[in-house]
Amino acid sequence: MSKLSLKVFRGRIVHCLEVKSVTVVEDGLIGINSNGQILFVDEGAKKDALMKQFGFEERDIHHLETSQFLMPGLVDTHIHAPQYKFTGTGYDLQLLDWLDKYTFPTEAKFSDVQLASEVYQSVVKRTINNGTTTASYFATIHVESAIELCKIIAQCGQRALVGKVNMDRESPDNYIETTSSSIVDTKKFIEFVEGMKNPLVEAVITPRFLPTCTDELLKQLAELAKKKGLKIQSHLCEQLGEVGYTMNFYPSDQYPSHQNCTQVFDKMGLLNEKTYMAHCIHLKEEELKLMEERKVGIAHCPNSNFCLKSGLMDARDRLGRDLKIGLGTDVSGGFSSSMLDAIRHALQASRALHIKFEKEGKEYEQLTLDEALYMATIGGAKVLNLQDKIGNFEVGKEFDALLIDTAAHVSDSKKLPVFDVFPSDTFEDILSKFVYLGDDRNIIKVFVAGQEIKPARK
Ligand code: GUN
Ligand code: FE
Repeated sequence: MSKLSLKVFRGRIVHCLEVKSVTVVEDGLIGINSNGQILFVDEGAKKDALMKQFGFEERDIHHLETSQFLMPGLVDTHIHAPQYKFTGTGYDLQLLDWLDKYTFPTEAKFSDVQLASEVYQSVVKRTINNGTTTASYFATIHVESAIELCKIIAQCGQRALVGKVNMDRESPDNYIETTSSSIVDTKKFIEFVEGMKNPLVEAVITPRFLPTCTDELLKQLAELAKKKGLKIQSHLCEQLGEVGYTMNFYPSDQYPSHQNCTQVFDKMGLLNEKTYMAHCIHLKEEELKLMEERKVGIAHCPNSNFCLKSGLMDARDRLGRDLKIGLGTDVSGGFSSSMLDAIRHALQASRALHIKFEKEGKEYEQLTLDEALYMATIGGAKVLNLQDKIGNFEVGKEFDALLIDTAAHVSDSKKLPVFDVFPSDTFEDILSKFVYLGDDRNIIKVFVAGQEIKPARK
């Protein structure tokens, strides 16, 4: 991490404000104070007055090239750090079998802090390299390894929410907790994160999903979240088979009021405006209404939804409701740790829905690139309740940003660009090409709270 020496950027600025569309300021000016907060965002033409007002000098200005632009950092609302170990393998199964065959055996090995350290360094470096400035991580049940993840994130300067995973039933013998040890370890983890006093890293209460958590555990976690003012993350209605399996735990005579998974989470006290749930593909209308009432956010993870054959999440429907929605990579359900990939898969999932609905004779409007960029930035910030700090370039927010160069090359010697831009291309064309064809080589600088964090130091 190096201190930001230049405090003003002049050039093209791309971000999403409240409306779900992209705003492009062709000649923009952003000023940042020494705490990494945005002091002003305006037109370059107002430069002289702004520089005078905020006491900057000409030499404080970093002028962007014409091939460059600034955009907000990408927000990954759902990623499993330990699963990075087997990313890119094992997509032959569906969720429950995939958990049993690949995920639980791998995560069980994270009792070894040395292994955790190696994998966590790799995943944090990789996500930063790909432009993820904020990530909401699931670790494993192991408190020491979850602490190690927080230390690595802090050293690398990423903004993150980190959860020690809770699971006290329906799990392998070598990867399960008792209810009491799960709570004791969660408290220990929370105390460690509080003691870090790092404004960028928060602990988040993380019951894995309903099948692996007893009612008693869920209730105690809800109390803990309330007492400590913590956010809550879990998985909800990812696959139909999983939903059926889950509801077997709630026989109707014993739980007459538990008719669906969303209601179960609610009865346990886990749904509020600080909660966000991964997937939410197979929600019924009454569940969507309850999500709206409780102001629960959705982490849409389309790459994972394809790989695990979970289904097509109707992001168009969710965007049209009073619901917060962001994007997640869900490594390793999803094979890519890049949020650019999450954007592309969100668009492809929407097209797949278009094909399905057209066949059924229904009207459907596919997602736009602007809406996908909205979900990957300010939409995700809202899901994580960080909208007052990050997500776009508004005065008072922290400068979490990417400097993009659309003319970056695949190698210095060959001078072949990562993707081709032609003289007749509009900026709209170039932005679209970056989203579909660009990669980490186009992301030349990554800032979190004004600090440059790429390449990751750890
Ligand atoms: N549901 C419970 N655990 C998991 C997990 O690790 N990944 C996914 N995609 N879904 C889950
Ligand atoms: Fe997940």
